[in-house]
Amino acid sequence: MIYLATSLFTDAEREFGFSLTEKIERLGYEVYYPWRDAGDEEIVERFGSNMDKVNDEIVRRNLEAIRKCEMLIAVAEGSDVESGTSMEIGFAHALGKKIRCLRTDFRTQGKRIGPVNIMISRSAEKFYSSVDELVDDLKRECTSSSLTIENIAHFYNTVANEYSNPNLHPTTALFKRTEEAYMKGIVCGKRFNVAMDVGCGDGNFLLYVESDKKIGLDLSLEMIKRHRSKLPTASYILGTCVSLLVGDSTVDVLHSSFLLDHLNDTERSLFFNEVNRVMNRRGIFLLATYSPEETLESRGSETSFEYVTSTGRKFNVPSDFKSLLNLREQLMNSFVVDSYDRVSTGQANLSIDCYVLKKK
Ligand SMILES: C[S@@+](CC[C@H](N)C(=O)[O-])C[C@H]1O[C@@H](n2cnc3c(N)ncnc32)[C@H](O)[C@@H]1O
Repeated sequence: MIYLATSLFTDAEREFGFSLTEKIERLGYEVYYPWRDAGDEEIVERFGSNMDKVNDEIVRRNLEAIRKCEMLIAVAEGSDVESGTSMEIGFAHALGKKIRCLRTDFRTQGKRIGPVNIMISRSAEKFYSSVDELVDDLKRECTSSSLTIENIAHFYNTVANEYSNPNLHPTTALFKRTEEAYMKGIVCGKRFNVAMDVGCGDGNFLLYVESDKKIGLDLSLEMIKRHRSKLPTASYILGTCVSLLVGDSTVDVLHSSFLLDHLNDTERSLFFNEVNRVMNRRGIFLLATYSPEETLESRGSETSFEYVTSTGRKFNVPSDFKSLLNLREQLMNSFVVDSYDRVSTGQANLSIDCYVLKKK
């Protein structure tokens, strides 16, 4: 998480803070922007006009966020850097956090000192002289895969409460309904001992499959919490699909929908190895993905797509549809393809690919 330290006294400063936060979040990073994220309204509701308590709580939350952040980005403008921002830089420095400064201001404090107080310039590992320079640098850095996993979890944690709301996200709901109808047709009338849903999200498969034991695995704690509220009797694993954390040959039916586009090649083949490991001899693997050709046409061949939340927050969600183009061949290497169907959602150019797979 990145903590954005900036002066927040004027409309212009607050607007700039919002726009910078949005630009950084669009790269996939989680940002704590005190003006938005300290929860001032809720604090005021709690403590009313007791400004001492209100201010204590705001400071407590901001310092807590600095403790948690991986990096602090300070907007270090002005002939002297604003006092609150300077304090935040000092606190982060004492905690050994990475500090970077954005300074578009060309005023300096003279040849000897330079643009900002040396206590600040010596605490920061980098200075940027424009927003573009800062954003480009962060973009370059956010390509490492561990950060991508973090970003995906952060994204789903943030949107968990609205993800399946058909009024807010009708296309997601349409995909889910279509997939559910198809998979219900496959498992209808069958009873299993152990069913597992990988990338289970806030739930679909485990709610209708008939099974003595049900296990949901997901990267996002908030998604799991929502799933659990609908199905408290199931077991849940917070983890990644590259390590399924259940015993060999223990699962009769393993389901996974709309997960694969979030995985890179290595993760995908590790996932398939894990599926083969945990599925028993007669087990089935039910897999659904967005149809890649159509998705690529509508979303382009980028390695992320834009998701706008109900409150207008924008996320660039890591998602590689191009890599799904050769999925069928890849699946044939790891499994027996029992059936494959391209299923229309009923809306033009929106269909899904559904597979029933067995152990080789
Ligand atoms: C598009 S949602 C689909 C959720 C659910 N399967 C459905 O059809 O509604 C993708 C889900 O996969 C989870 N996920 C993404 N990457 C994952 C990974 N590497 N391991 C486990 N779960 C992952 C996300 O947290 C999210 O809940």
